[in-house]
Amino acid sequence: MNEPNSDDFVVVANRLPVDLETPTDGGPPVWRRSPGGLVTAMETVLRSNSGAWVGWPGTPDVTVDPFEEDGLSLYPVELSSQEVEEYYEGFSNDTLWPLYHDALIPPTFDRRWWRTYRAVNQRFAEAAARAAAPGATVWVHDYQLQLVPRMLRELRPDVTIGFFLHIPFPPTELFLQLPWRKAIVDGLLGADLVGFHLPGGAQNFLYLANRLFGLPAPRGTSSGGTIVLGDRQVRVGAYPISIDSAQLRERSRDTAVQERAAEIRRDLGDPEVMLLGVDRLDYTKGIDVRLEALHELFAEGTLDPEKVVMVQLATPSRERLTAYAQLRDQVEREVGRINGEFARLGSPVVHYLHASVDRDELLAMYTGADVMLVTPLRDGMNLVAKEYIACHPDGSGSLVLSEFAGAAAELRRALLVNPHDLEGVKRAIVEAIEEDPAERKKRMKTMHAHVMEYDVARWSRTFLEDLRATSGAHVTASGS
Ligand code: ADP
Ligand code: G6P
Repeated sequence: MNEPNSDDFVVVANRLPVDLETPTDGGPPVWRRSPGGLVTAMETVLRSNSGAWVGWPGTPDVTVDPFEEDGLSLYPVELSSQEVEEYYEGFSNDTLWPLYHDALIPPTFDRRWWRTYRAVNQRFAEAAARAAAPGATVWVHDYQLQLVPRMLRELRPDVTIGFFLHIPFPPTELFLQLPWRKAIVDGLLGADLVGFHLPGGAQNFLYLANRLFGLPAPRGTSSGGTIVLGDRQVRVGAYPISIDSAQLRERSRDTAVQERAAEIRRDLGDPEVMLLGVDRLDYTKGIDVRLEALHELFAEGTLDPEKVVMVQLATPSRERLTAYAQLRDQVEREVGRINGEFARLGSPVVHYLHASVDRDELLAMYTGADVMLVTPLRDGMNLVAKEYIACHPDGSGSLVLSEFAGAAAELRRALLVNPHDLEGVKRAIVEAIEEDPAERKKRMKTMHAHVMEYDVARWSRTFLEDLRATSGAHVTASGS
């Protein structure tokens, strides 16, 4: 049982690392790992730091007492069905998510959703205030909770507050469309350190803080800066998130994983080339782009469906939102079209799984795949690209990567594509298959070395060191 005000390190995120799911067969609810990159990254961080995690257990209208799970103290925050509709599906995923992803679909601006977002953020701030020990460090995560830093500071001025945004921070003209833009920036300015994946996000935020609040021009460099707010400083910077690279590399070398990789290829009919896509089923991920490219490559005869197969894993996501339901229909139609036109009996060309698979199965897929296709129209980072690289220490494999994924800033040796340029995507897929093996190996080895060096432990260490340095810094009377 968790004691109140007892944790020195508290993570606050919309979701807990585990989700309470009610099986469709009417059985008792079970805890499962929550989807998404935030949980992948933060779970590793917390397991090596120990601490508490404040979040929603993933099901509406359930009251769950604080509990311990595998050494972590979990503090569930309850959401009603209406709050799930208005705060989570509405404001978070039908306003902020599309707005922050280049308005790929038009964001909806709804005043009621905003009021619920504010109320739910207040509840998370109160839950964090209850969990945090005097002088604790509280690390707030992602777009669902952008008001929490300010709210928490008002409740608990003694704690140090970090905030990290896991999705892109949009161009300023897009952000300025938001009717509640000032409240959001003010919410974030409650933190001691505000982190983004890329320097561009940090720069956009610094510009907005200056423009909306008339603050003195921030001091800083191209990758961030410091805002002086009375007697406080708010540091703003870029911290590209990563993965537990060593763990993935070791696990992917495990005999059972290697054998499973070989077995998967046999089950696929021993193709010459196995292409792989792994995503949440989200319209930002460009799953439709790669399927369309593949369809054209088969139709033109550039690729032979007897030699090339694709596996697409798609984790179910946000299924009650129209844009997600439409995307699912579109993807499934395209998979059906490719198989209808090019498969033979018993040998599909695209193997599509609308499911989440367990970790070892995923590693076996990464290990077995010749070409990884990561083609988002916009993505904050994309951990899948880094996971694939970590699973190929020998330099095998090939990565086709969208320029519009944050990962492209680091994985410069990938076959980079503009996902809006279908011919370019097709060319990259063909190049990935036909490239000189020695050249391909050089690319993969360079990227592997980078991913091994810049792992998630380094990411969190850098962020937390900067956070401590900022919260300890005092501003002199002259403000310098
Ligand atoms: P996002 O956070 O937008 O979902 P990321 O690529 O950053 O995208 O992170 C996705 C995480 O979810 C990765 O750790 C990946 O391994 C995992 N994942 C994605 N799809 C699946 C799947 N079908 N089965 C299991 N894990 C998955
Ligand atoms: C992305 C977001 C996370 C979110 C995850 C899964 O990674 O940055 O905040 O948790 O997607 O989405 P969901 O809506 O299921 O929590």
